[in-house]
Amino acid sequence: MRALGIESSCDETAAAVVTLTFGEGVSRPILQANVVHGQVEVHARYGGVVPELASRAHIRNIGPVIAEAFQVAGITPDALDCVAVTAGPGLIGGLLTGMATAKGLAMALGVPLVGVHHMEGHLMSPFLDPDAGAMDFPFVSLLVSGGHTLLVHARQFGEYRPLGRTRDDAVGEAFDKGARLLGLGYPGGPAIATLAEGGDREAIRFPRAMPGREQLDFSFSGLKTALRTFLGQHQARMDEPEWRRDVAASYQEAIVDVLASKSIAACRQTGERRLVVAGGVGANRRLRERLLERGNREGIQVYFPPLSLCTDNGAMIALAGLRRLAMGQRDGWALNVQARWPVEKIGETFSSSRWPSIGRAS
Ligand code: KG4
Ligand code: ZN
Repeated sequence: MRALGIESSCDETAAAVVTLTFGEGVSRPILQANVVHGQVEVHARYGGVVPELASRAHIRNIGPVIAEAFQVAGITPDALDCVAVTAGPGLIGGLLTGMATAKGLAMALGVPLVGVHHMEGHLMSPFLDPDAGAMDFPFVSLLVSGGHTLLVHARQFGEYRPLGRTRDDAVGEAFDKGARLLGLGYPGGPAIATLAEGGDREAIRFPRAMPGREQLDFSFSGLKTALRTFLGQHQARMDEPEWRRDVAASYQEAIVDVLASKSIAACRQTGERRLVVAGGVGANRRLRERLLERGNREGIQVYFPPLSLCTDNGAMIALAGLRRLAMGQRDGWALNVQARWPVEKIGETFSSSRWPSIGRAS
């Protein structure tokens, strides 16, 4: 079965072609094309994603990105068995652009349309890595990006239990906002990580929110406020390169410390020995170092999918869509996008009951 996966829930316009065979169990997917068009240049001057600008960029880019995916895969659209699309959660304008495109394609080709939860997509990313070897369910996943901070217990495909989430800012936002306070560029994560190289991680003791061993929720807004207050008190030092390095290293350490200890605690609580890290913040070198070190000590295998798979992409959506198709999911033309869609309801898609019944996608 071959799927086109479309992802446009945030600031990446992405399309991918993935093939999966079903029979005795599920085969390893074959990734035939994975095209991602980012929008950093559109949002950089604002220091964060501007929803209306993101929508317009998706509209401009989605056609060419899909055409490129077909070209890279060396197929024509009629070779598809299904069109999978992110139905939420995310920014509504981008989601609508992806959904309208997916419906048009599925309708024209006469193939099923499958709506996918963005987070289920992220949970699929390790399976797309040909080097992942024995990777399989069950595992604990730490999803960390500009929009999400979530610990999930993934028991098997379709069976997920959220263990903890952020109560305020996402961890990527903590990096981006921290970078802005330090006068660094966007995206802030890589900027802070670069500045922090060689800095003293213990120079400033920034607060670690919700440190309780059993408590798996996160909070980052207090940390951001602590940085703002600290910088306000030391305005005169803002131009000292070494001091700035120490501030960045200490700030990064406060974030990484919380992510690492809660991830390990989540593995302990669930008894799982596998931890998968997905999302853009997974690129952070210090986070990788800390998690591998803690994982080694605790007998937990920590797995980082390659960056191209762990940031937003269409391949993860195509694969989740194929697995859902195999479970019998087919969404009709009334399929709706959902800006908010709790992880607890990942298995449900939402339809508009007032949409005229003009046929099903299958
Ligand atoms: O998954 P992603 O590419 O996009 C979504 O947010 O969906 O994640 C982007 C986030 C940004 O907040 C960026 O600052 C952060 O990931 N990020 C990093 C690093 N690289 C990207 N954060 C910390 N360290 C990094 N090396
Ligand atoms: Zn994402």
